[in-house]
Formats: sequence, C-alpha cells, structure tokens
Amino acid sequence: MAPRAHEPAPGRPTTDRVKHIFSTIAPEYDRFNQLSSLGIDRYWRARTVTLARLRRNSQVLDLAAGTGDLTMALAARGRPARILSTDFVPEMLEVGREKAAAYEGETKIEFAVVDALDIPYADESFDVVTVAFGVRNLPDRAQNFREVHRVLKPGGRYVVLEFSRPPFPPFRALYHFYLRTVIPFLGGRLTGDRESFQYLNDSILQFPGQVALAGELHKAGFAEVNWHNLTFGIVAVHVATK
Ligand SMILES: C[S@@+](CC[C@H](N)C(=O)[O-])C[C@H]1O[C@@H](n2cnc3c(N)ncnc32)[C@H](O)[C@@H]1O
Repeated sequence: MAPRAHEPAPGRPTTDRVKHIFSTIAPEYDRFNQLSSLGIDRYWRARTVTLARLRRNSQVLDLAAGTGDLTMALAARGRPARILSTDFVPEMLEVGREKAAAYEGETKIEFAVVDALDIPYADESFDVVTVAFGVRNLPDRAQNFREVHRVLKPGGRYVVLEFSRPPFPPFRALYHFYLRTVIPFLGGRLTGDRESFQYLNDSILQFPGQVALAGELHKAGFAEVNWHNLTFGIVAVHVATK
C-alpha cells in the first residue's frame, strides 16, 4: 500500500494526536511553560530573537507559534515590519491574539491557521521564518524544511529553537531524570492530562541532537547551518541560511 502524504515514521507524532494535545492544554500552556522551565524560556526566546537578526523592513513567519510567546518577543525586541503568527490549532492562536491586543509597538502582527507541512504562501515571501518548540512535534520534518526553504527569500534564515542534547553526560542524565519525573507530574497537576506530558517528554528524548538536525537542514537545501547551545545544551537554536 502506498504511504499517505506526511505519514509519520514509526514512533513519530501523529497530526491528530498533536492537535488533540494542544487544543486541550491551550488555556494552561503558558503557566506550564513558565513553571516547568523556571522562567528560563524567556531568555531562550530573547536569544532566538537576537539570532534572527531582524531589520525594520523584515517580513517574518512564525510557525507553530502556539500562544505567541516567540511572536511577541520578536515584535518587542526585533521590531520587524510584519510578523505572521501561525499554528494549526486555533485554540492556541486565540491565546496569542489576546496578547497581541495589548501590544502597542510598530510591528504589524497577524494570525493565521497554517499547517507547517503545507505552507500556503508564495515562494520567496519571507526574510525570516521562526519556530520555537514546534519542529519536534512534526511527523515529517523534511517536508517542513523544504517548505520553509521554498517560502524564504534568497539569503533568508530559518531560526529553529528546540530542545536538544546536553553534551556533558552527567548533566544530560540529570536533565533526563527531570524530564521523566517532574514534567509529567507538573503537567498532570496543571491540566489533568499527565499522559500528554509524558508523550511530549518522549518526543524530546527521541529528537535528534544538534549535529543530526543540522544535517537534515542541509539536506533540505540550506546553504549554511549553525547552531548555538543554550543552558548547557538543554535547548539549541539552529540558524539555517538559504
Ligand atoms: C510546544 S508548542 C510551542 C508553541 C510556541 N511556539 C512556544 O514557543 O511556546 C508546539 C506548537 O506546535 C503546533 N504544531 C504542531 N504541529 C504543527 C503543524 N504541523 N503545523 C502547525 N502547527 C503545529 C502545536 O499546535 C503547538 O501550538
């Protein structure tokens, strides 16, 4: 039997499951993020904005933007001309829309329901595409990388903030213990859905390390790929240039 388009490889997330998880946890997502990362996620997003190297006339697409925390950091710190904040779960975007309503800066912020595997915009439309903690949940990363490469202008950048692999083994062991115990407990207490948080953790543990992810971006056609480890490599920001 021929595989369906974007059919996940064994052990990879399914679209239905990911949609179900995020539409359910949307109201509690921000609180969970702040508690589980002890607020460090704000620093990670700030560094991501710096690495995006935005200009006043930049056109930005934020994929899997969820409740809009990276979108709002890009607007506040990077001040590009326009950001399109997108996600395929409308409940997550709705929280972002409420945050943007209080924004008084010059960046034009717009919202759209978009599947990161099938981006409905013309070739060479954006200077920068960003994604924070979204690539890990895609059933077909290569498809996303090709789509982003297509919609970026020549010289444009794909900036990917994602959980990664701490290089120092003792620290990695400690971090994995935290992932296996504290995160499902905290997620379960906040949302009543411990199983979803268990699943999200598994997706962190199965995600490729820094070098492998850079290889995948190269394979999709990006000319140059660099990465920056943050907080001992708990997360990394990959910057792929078209
Ligand atoms: C962990 S959240 C990250 C949200 C936000 N970027 C942040 O930094 O907090 C992952 C988001 O990816 C979205 N997502 C997963 N697969 C997607 C896809 N194929 N297309 C668009 N959004 C997707 C989910 O709906 C969810 O909002």
